[in-house]
Amino acid sequence: MVIDHNDEQGPISLELLKKAVDASNDGIVIAEQEGDDNILIYANKAFERLTGYHVDEILYQDCRFLQTGDRDQTGLDTIREAIKQGSSARVVLRNYHKDGSMFWNELSISPIYSDEDQLTYYIGIQKDVTAQVEAEARAKAAEQELAELRAKLAQ
Ligand SMILES: Cc1cc2nc3c(=O)[nH]c(=O)nc-3n(C[C@H](O)[C@H](O)[C@H](O)COP(=O)(O)O)c2cc1C
Repeated sequence: MVIDHNDEQGPISLELLKKAVDASNDGIVIAEQEGDDNILIYANKAFERLTGYHVDEILYQDCRFLQTGDRDQTGLDTIREAIKQGSSARVVLRNYHKDGSMFWNELSISPIYSDEDQLTYYIGIQKDVTAQVEAEARAKAAEQELAELRAKLAQ
């Protein structure tokens, strides 16, 4: 099968598109809206590496299982509102690997409207930003320490 997108891009085979998605370093998932849930119908290899779960373990589940009990996060309100509006959003969430260890997940979601079955799907892209978040926290702490030292010196 060949998808003929536009003249600029040229045709790309479905097989190449699949390979590209699996070659991605970031997690890529597709979820189908089912009531209040968005259930996973696809997850790429990077999602498996990122979370530690095999795709068979998490198919047809809503991605909230990655939060385990850690539900009090402002980013979740942003995601809920975006899903309600059928719009896109980008947030950073605390998520948990299968082994229970925490990581910071930069999640970007965008709606996909299907003419074929009139359903709404979402694509989600997950990026591990733990190193950046921790570096920012260290920089902030160092800045505060410096400000305190300066204040003491000024006295
Ligand atoms: C495509 C897609 C991917 C998502 N990926 C994640 C994820 O990686 N981690 C996460 O904590 N939540 C993820 N979510 C958000 C949850 O599925 C859910 O929408 C969120 O927890 C807010 O809804 P709730 O309050 O009903 O749990 C994703 C949502 C969608 C639609």
